[in-house]
Amino acid sequence: MVRIPLELLSVTLPVLLLGFLLAQEFGVINGGINPDDLRYIHAIQQQIDLPNTCHSNHRTAFETVNTPIHFSTSPLESFDAPKLSHLNSTAGEQWAFDGTSASGRSGLLLGIYRDASYAFLGPGNFRISLDVVWDNGTTWSTVDYLARSTVHVCDDKVVGIWASSEDLYYVFEVSHDSKDARVQIHTSQVKGSFAMRSTTPARYPDSSVFPSETASTWNAPMLHWVEPIPAGIIDVDLTIEDTPFRWAGVGGHERWWSGKGWLEIMTRWEAVRLSAGPYTLSFWQPTSRVNGVSYPSPFLTKHGVKVFSAQRNSVSKTQNFILYRQIPAPDGSSEDLAGYEIELVSPLEKRRWSFTLEYRNREFEFDLGGQAGGSAYVGRVRGGEEDEEPYEGVFFAEHVDVESLTVPRLYVIICEWYCRFKAQVLGRWDVSM
Ligand SMILES: *[C@@H]1O[C@H](CO)[C@@H](O)[C@H](O)[C@H]1NC(C)=O
Ligand SMILES: *[C@@H]1O[C@H](CO)[C@@H](O)[C@H](O)[C@H]1NC(C)=O
Repeated sequence: MVRIPLELLSVTLPVLLLGFLLAQEFGVINGGINPDDLRYIHAIQQQIDLPNTCHSNHRTAFETVNTPIHFSTSPLESFDAPKLSHLNSTAGEQWAFDGTSASGRSGLLLGIYRDASYAFLGPGNFRISLDVVWDNGTTWSTVDYLARSTVHVCDDKVVGIWASSEDLYYVFEVSHDSKDARVQIHTSQVKGSFAMRSTTPARYPDSSVFPSETASTWNAPMLHWVEPIPAGIIDVDLTIEDTPFRWAGVGGHERWWSGKGWLEIMTRWEAVRLSAGPYTLSFWQPTSRVNGVSYPSPFLTKHGVKVFSAQRNSVSKTQNFILYRQIPAPDGSSEDLAGYEIELVSPLEKRRWSFTLEYRNREFEFDLGGQAGGSAYVGRVRGGEEDEEPYEGVFFAEHVDVESLTVPRLYVIICEWYCRFKAQVLGRWDVSM
């Protein structure tokens, strides 16, 4: 459930050359680590009242190793703890948080990365992306690169700090039971925080509930995923370029880690999170570039208790399944979509739930050319179990299709993208490394 403007398909000579030029421009070659940089990390830690018994994993933006790294697949380790001991040139992990307002019109998506896929571009491995939409449909997005990333695994929570200075940082805190999460943002453009309170159990890809000794974090070839907060209540209190962005609604939190970049291992992904009356549904489905197989994982709760899950997206007489389809806009001419329909069927229990999602606002869209791209929407949903009076609520949905992405087009994208982030990042990069 991420906005990945670009994951790397392959690093070839022209790209490396471009990277070298950019790295020179950013002055990141031949740098040394200045121990004074740690001062602002300590200052930030004091502000957030960090316990002093934590196990800390501290990294700088240009650190990668050529030796094998530890890639955690432990089902019992805290979902928010770092899953990679170090970064090599291809592996990455992310922490994602999203929310939709009770109006179904405002939303946010925050992706926090440790990911070396674009290291050759110069700004380092600690990317942050934030996309928001206001009630009136106005959208705003940013991509930030931070100098340092520290994850503290404490007795009762995990605290992640991505920072470049005392005035430029992102902090997330998630309790070990995955019930409470809080994010603080302090940058020149965005200030404030949001808090989440989970109303659902944390779960694994097969929808078994945390903690389980026998569950697996494996989601698809080369992709691991767990869901600390399938759904919960979110309270947002941010100021974005001096405009208030305050609302309450439905939120969720995800964790992914993989040995290679997303575009290299996936051709498509779908994500839906909704809440309607007593129900919450979280649906994540990557389609693998490695074997072409889709891995659907819908997880439905009622009053906070799991009532349905499936790992199949076609009709079956014996296994639970999900069916979904996008609803095109009624005029048929616009490329805009009107909504989404979901059906969840348990043939053995003879139960069936359906939800109709009606888009209200587009949260973001990215076009990588030639059919490749993605979009995310927020809106209103209606649904429930067959024969039940339908409940109303709100949702977040993201659809990405990058199957047609080819390597030559990647160069064009990288150059365009570089111009964009250069405008955003230059002048804020105040770390000498
Ligand atoms: C939409 O709302 C935002 C936030 O209140 C405001 O800054 C922006 O000007 C509005 N846009 C339009 C087109 O009214
Ligand atoms: C990086 O580490 C991951 C996880 O161990 C592995 O799958 C991947 O092949 C490694 N990449 C390189 C370039 O060694």
